Amino acid sequence: MKVLVVGSGAREHALAWKLSASPLVDQLYAAPGNPGIAQVADCVPIRADATVELADFAESLRVDLTVVGPELPLVLGIRDEFARRGLALFGPTRRAAEVEGSKAFTKRLCQTYGIPTAPGEVVTSRERAAEVAKKLGLPVVLKADGLAAGKGVLLCHTEEELEEGLDRFFARREFGAAGERVVVEACLSGEELSFLVITDGTSVWPLPAARDYKRLRDGDEGPNTGGMGAFSPAPLPRDLASAILSQVIYPALKALAHEGRWYQGVLYAGVMVTADGPKLLEFNCRLGDPEAQVILPRLGGDIAPLLLGVAKGELASPEVAVERQATACVVLASRGYPQAPETGHPITGVEDAQAAGALVFHAGTAMTNGQLVTAGGRVLSVVGVGGSLREAVDKAYRAAEQVRFEGVQFRRDIGKGFADG
Ligand code: AMP
Ligand code: GLY
Repeated sequence: MKVLVVGSGAREHALAWKLSASPLVDQLYAAPGNPGIAQVADCVPIRADATVELADFAESLRVDLTVVGPELPLVLGIRDEFARRGLALFGPTRRAAEVEGSKAFTKRLCQTYGIPTAPGEVVTSRERAAEVAKKLGLPVVLKADGLAAGKGVLLCHTEEELEEGLDRFFARREFGAAGERVVVEACLSGEELSFLVITDGTSVWPLPAARDYKRLRDGDEGPNTGGMGAFSPAPLPRDLASAILSQVIYPALKALAHEGRWYQGVLYAGVMVTADGPKLLEFNCRLGDPEAQVILPRLGGDIAPLLLGVAKGELASPEVAVERQATACVVLASRGYPQAPETGHPITGVEDAQAAGALVFHAGTAMTNGQLVTAGGRVLSVVGVGGSLREAVDKAYRAAEQVRFEGVQFRRDIGKGFADG
């Protein structure tokens, strides 16, 4: 069959890499893709958010399955556009993708249907935001309602930080339309966990547990980023997994169905495991990045039938098994990331990293006059696969050391404290 992967990051490279191994896939396309993806797929120059053009392309080439990586096309309604034309696409509809597209929507959903989450309120004015913050007590969290590329969440520990945060939302309007509504909620403490499932709206197939490292620097210091690394399996006691399923995932799917927002695709729950049980921080309507880079290499078997089944509305019992191996991903980022990443620097050593036994997934790379150069904040994901987490981490770091570009930065503590046992 013909398959199209939408997106251009390391998550999409991992998806394309996995799909290219499927005996069912004879033709693989990516839009727009990147130089790494181009090694396993035909890249077509259509932007990921050009939903109508993508549907035109899929229709004209009779693509059998489209798999969407990033949230924006889903929130814009790419599934709806494809469905109107009878084209199979893996990912939720526009109204279902609101779980990620609107944090105010998700807050209301949690509050209405008793899904555990931080106490809080959706506000539209500075005065009300200040009142709610006062009622909750510091520290509080301010969240832009709409998509803000992971930058719309402000943790305020002091009065000064709160004033500054309120200024950013209501005076400087830094988040534009995404910040017109703001979720003000209590700050929770505990361990954070990414819990992802594949679902047809009724049945769920939990993906292997992964841990993401959101902060830029070692020891969880520095600004929040899209994710600087990950590993899998993340420790996940069986009773915690079943609590997340029974208290968060199933109630959310039921609530969404009740509102006519049938959910199909990946549902990603960002959960804080507090002393008082798991609480939902956010939903995403897609695979995580870099979680996908550590999850997909652990899936043995063919994912194409699984994704096609869900795209057609039914989760078939998967011919996919989670393998015992562990995986660790180190993200190589550009100097200046996340605020103002430098670009255009030559990259060397990718083949050496692969020769060192790692998978290398491209994100912000470009090919200029035959030379691979940096072209974004997160440049490459280097993934080690091993019999133990220790082995996976060592492999990832040995390979990461082989890659060179001006200003490269990466965390040195991925898996640390988990890989030592
Ligand atoms: P979100 O995009 O909602 O997941 O927020 C981004 C990051 O902010 C999360 O991964 C958490 O580390 C942090 N965060 C969000 N909400 C809260 C909260 N209520 N309490 C503590 N940390 C939070
Ligand atoms: N790694 C976090 C995300 O993909 O949202």
